[in-house]
Amino acid sequence: MKKILITGSTDGIGKLAAIKLAQAGHEIYLHGRNPNKVEAVVTEIKSVSANEKIKGLIADFSDLLAVRSMATEVRSQLLELDVLINNAGVFNSTTATNEQGFDLRYVVNYFAPVVLTQELLPLLKQANAPRIINLSSAAQSPIAYSTLQGEQMQSSRATYAQSKLAITMWSFHLARTEPDISVIAVNPGSLLNTKMVQEAFGQFWSSADKGGDIIYDLAIGEQYKDISGQYFDNDAGGFGRAHASAYSKEEIKKLMDVTRKVLDQ
Ligand SMILES: NC(=O)c1ccc[n+]([C@@H]2O[C@H](COP(=O)([O-])OP(=O)(O)OC[C@H]3O[C@@H](n4cnc5c(N)ncnc54)[C@H](OP(=O)(O)O)[C@@H]3O)[C@@H](O)[C@H]2O)c1
Repeated sequence: MKKILITGSTDGIGKLAAIKLAQAGHEIYLHGRNPNKVEAVVTEIKSVSANEKIKGLIADFSDLLAVRSMATEVRSQLLELDVLINNAGVFNSTTATNEQGFDLRYVVNYFAPVVLTQELLPLLKQANAPRIINLSSAAQSPIAYSTLQGEQMQSSRATYAQSKLAITMWSFHLARTEPDISVIAVNPGSLLNTKMVQEAFGQFWSSADKGGDIIYDLAIGEQYKDISGQYFDNDAGGFGRAHASAYSKEEIKKLMDVTRKVLDQ
């Protein structure tokens, strides 16, 4: 049985994947930002899965210090981690930036998973055949470096798509730098019926289960265990091509350089 951490698993496709993984008997580290919601979902998943190995973690991913504290907590509880699913994400928000003035979508959807993963790499490296699943999207657009660095604001739609290209580019980079870890970026399907999609578009194209099911499969499916540095496009039902920038060594290097600069501030 595997130890699996799923960020943003209090709702949407992350919660659905957590339920399925719990029902299969795995040890689940469920994460959310709202303590009451985390507690309620932990209780619910224990009940529907008859699995008591469900633990809650709390961190608001708009605050990178909170992400680091959560990683410290995980390191104090675990010696190894088999699967990390970077799923937490935001599209609409009441404020455009976090307290430090950085675009909220870039922080929650990109910087937070980068920081969490860096902090948890030692635990993943202790596991046998570890995996990292990063939630991308069909919406991917070129990064505006002034926005990434908190200097210029853009619409939530624009920065959402930029943050999703960023997490995809970083996934391919990570797959190269950590050859012993399987890293897959996934578009779980477009306009799945979740809170994020209802708030942003007021309509949906497919059930949320389509996304929960592919996260589950990529996290533990035997057929994916030797695959790394690829993009799974669940709109097409298989591995496919991400945005062209994700295949450019120069563009990835630039993203990694600026990411390091922002995170070192
Ligand atoms: N649904 C789709 O069609 C679709 C398509 C492509 C990609 N995706 C990606 O799939 C992932 C899950 O999306 P979803 O549709 O399931 O969305 P969702 O239903 O809104 O769930 C998002 C999850 O992320 C958490 N979250 C949001 N902001 C956070 C923050 N500041 N700190 C910590 N946690 C935070 C939410 O917590 P709360 O419960 O407290 O809100 C929730 O658990 C996202 O990365 C999204 O971009 C979704």
